[in-house]
Amino acid sequence: MSKLQVSKRGRDVIASPIRKFLPYVQATEKKGIKVIKINVGDPDLVPPQDFFKVIRAYAGKTLPYTPSPGIPAHTAAWQTYFKQFGVDLPMSGIIPAVGCAEAILLAMQAVCDPGEELLVFEPLYASYKSFAVMTGIKLVPVLLPFEKNFALPTAAEIEKKITKKTKAVVVINPDNPTGKLWTEKELNTVVAIAKKHNLFIISDETYREIRFDGKKPTSLLANKAAREYVIVCDSASKRFTMPGARTGVVASFNTDVMHTILKFAQARLSTPTLEQLGLIPVLNNSKPYVTKLVKEYHKRRDVIAEGLAKIPGVVFKPAQGAIYQSLQIPVKESEDFVKFMISEFSYKGKTVMVTPMQDFYITPGRGHSEIRVAYVLDSKILKEAMEILREGLKAYLAK
Ligand SMILES: Cc1ncc(COP(=O)(O)O)c(C=O)c1O
Repeated sequence: MSKLQVSKRGRDVIASPIRKFLPYVQATEKKGIKVIKINVGDPDLVPPQDFFKVIRAYAGKTLPYTPSPGIPAHTAAWQTYFKQFGVDLPMSGIIPAVGCAEAILLAMQAVCDPGEELLVFEPLYASYKSFAVMTGIKLVPVLLPFEKNFALPTAAEIEKKITKKTKAVVVINPDNPTGKLWTEKELNTVVAIAKKHNLFIISDETYREIRFDGKKPTSLLANKAAREYVIVCDSASKRFTMPGARTGVVASFNTDVMHTILKFAQARLSTPTLEQLGLIPVLNNSKPYVTKLVKEYHKRRDVIAEGLAKIPGVVFKPAQGAIYQSLQIPVKESEDFVKFMISEFSYKGKTVMVTPMQDFYITPGRGHSEIRVAYVLDSKILKEAMEILREGLKAYLAK
């Protein structure tokens, strides 16, 4: 036996929740059964073509590093983009990151030391859990109850979780995995708590514009009273359908925070050159593409809601934003149901892969009867997927 051993944090970090299902999916596909994958947020839409035009026209003979705070025209394009939401950031308030994922990691490390605490709301986008293990930061969860459509508890309830070690609170709005849209009142509650207890607010606004039923996009950075507290982590992945471009950003008015993040950014040198260039025209004229995108997701949200309403025993409220619908199903162990769907069940030669919710919770025992559906495919396929889900649940319950 080798004496070499990887770090404790390396051993503790969880593998991607999806990975454990892949062997089942592969075996099922080998049998000729089509697996409709609505488990991850990897959408099928075509990104803005201006992005590719710039990349195809690149005439450089070399591919140099770019400045750590970004190619100036790229950073300026984010600046222009943010102005639409009443956020007038200086250039030094914006640093590109390799997706929102890196933005989160930079923000967490900028405000917390190992052993310090980050207040989060569960269910929670699972990468935060891995980042916490990687950085030695402790996540302290506050439950957003499914039964109350993920409404924020009272300030007093939240404050019970604050200790001397708490440094920041995370808000994801619109939210993955719940599809929750935070109300003005809820945001104000978090801002008031942050100010009272001197906490930073890490505001993950990956899905900013993807809000339904006429709700207008906003940014917590537009809240002047909260300016010094807020660090926005943002991304082109979802609003421009380009997750593979790995283009995100950290943005804040807090000069200490941005100075710190710049030092981290210098250590990792820079973000990809071509993708920064490609994103410039897209950010400078984001509205036409995003308006169409939101309309499309709205339609899909409705298709999902219509399909789910026809499944006995399913409990849900239509998502208010992002690209996910979370729901309760009448089973004890949704992971077992997902496994059944992808390894034992098919309907007219097809089956559906969704995500069990338990991995989105930090507190053990929660989310075992919940699943998440990502509406990342065409409405016609989603409609079919909901029928397959209905038949699958019927078959599972009859076992
Ligand atoms: C809430 C949330 N934050 C961050 C990310 C990471 O996004 P990116 O592709 O920009 O790294 C995702 C991706 O699904 C997400 O849902």
